Amino acid sequence: MTAAVPEPRPLSRQVPAEGIRLRGVFHTYGRGTPHEVTALRGVDLDIAPGQFVAVVGHNGSGKSTVAKHLNVLLQPTEGDVWVDGLNTRDPAARMAIRRRVGMVFQNPDNQIVGITVEHDVAFGLENLGLPVEVIEQRIDEALRLLGIEHLRHEPPHRLSAGQKQRLAIAGVVAMRPRYMVLDEATALLDPAGRAEVLDCIVRLNREEGLGVVWITHFMEEAVHADQVVVMEGGQVVMAGTPRQVFQQAEEIRRLRLDVPLVTRIAAGLRERGLPVPADAVFLEEVVQSVCRSASGD
Ligand SMILES: Nc1ncnc2c1ncn2[C@@H]1O[C@H](COP(=O)(O)OP(=O)(O)OP(=O)(O)O)[C@@H](O)[C@H]1O
Ligand SMILES: [Mg+2]
Repeated sequence: MTAAVPEPRPLSRQVPAEGIRLRGVFHTYGRGTPHEVTALRGVDLDIAPGQFVAVVGHNGSGKSTVAKHLNVLLQPTEGDVWVDGLNTRDPAARMAIRRRVGMVFQNPDNQIVGITVEHDVAFGLENLGLPVEVIEQRIDEALRLLGIEHLRHEPPHRLSAGQKQRLAIAGVVAMRPRYMVLDEATALLDPAGRAEVLDCIVRLNREEGLGVVWITHFMEEAVHADQVVVMEGGQVVMAGTPRQVFQQAEEIRRLRLDVPLVTRIAAGLRERGLPVPADAVFLEEVVQSVCRSASGD
């Protein structure tokens, strides 16, 4: 008996011309094998151009599987993913989608290929067949945006871990993607390296309008996002601004996650009667309300 071949599904046109949209996305690894794992179970998600979205969730909740759907490293088993109106199931759109969505992973060593910083950034650009002057200009710009101009002639192995990750990001930024997906890009870095990389990404988002999907285990990093998406068991279980999401501390803990330290401190101060906002996520706002209360304002 031959297995039934599923009918190809029509490509829907009900999609925004701009932004990333996931609707009813399921993904099953190893379908039909004894190792079958359904990693995504009906994910709906919208990412506007220029938006900074943080994705958090316990190990195995499906974050990386979502990330890989955004630049066609994976395709939905069911449902659809559109990038600026292009469907990832459309073979003719694949290259255009990959140019729009840059990916950065945990380990920069896997993304660095050049013998010097400059050569590394040039690599992807040369593959695009761009003229030499354009390549030069894009290298200058990417190194400047990531604050590593002074390392231009260094071999990558001489860089610190944070500098290496910034180099990997520069290589992607030079390709001028509209969106960038960073899957635990700070996981292997020390606190200084983490701050370095996050600061660069926040600046690229705010000043250059780069859309960012920032996957992280560090709740402190998620407070910089416009939207925080919480995943559990292959589904989006919470979404909202950092204030809306982290205010629901009990629910966050039930999902085996932490709320940011500042939010915990704010809750502790409120319990002791200080008028600290219940949705505080930044240290400065907590300090200011404590000072106001101490000075009797
Ligand atoms: N290539 C694969 N083959 C089979 N199963 C996989 C594969 N990649 C992931 N999975 C499974 O899919 C589920 C979701 O994994 P995914 O890597 O997307 O989670 P995650 O949220 O990124 O986890 P982590 O926080 O550990 O990075 C898990 O059960 C995982 O074991
Ligand atoms: Mg992961």
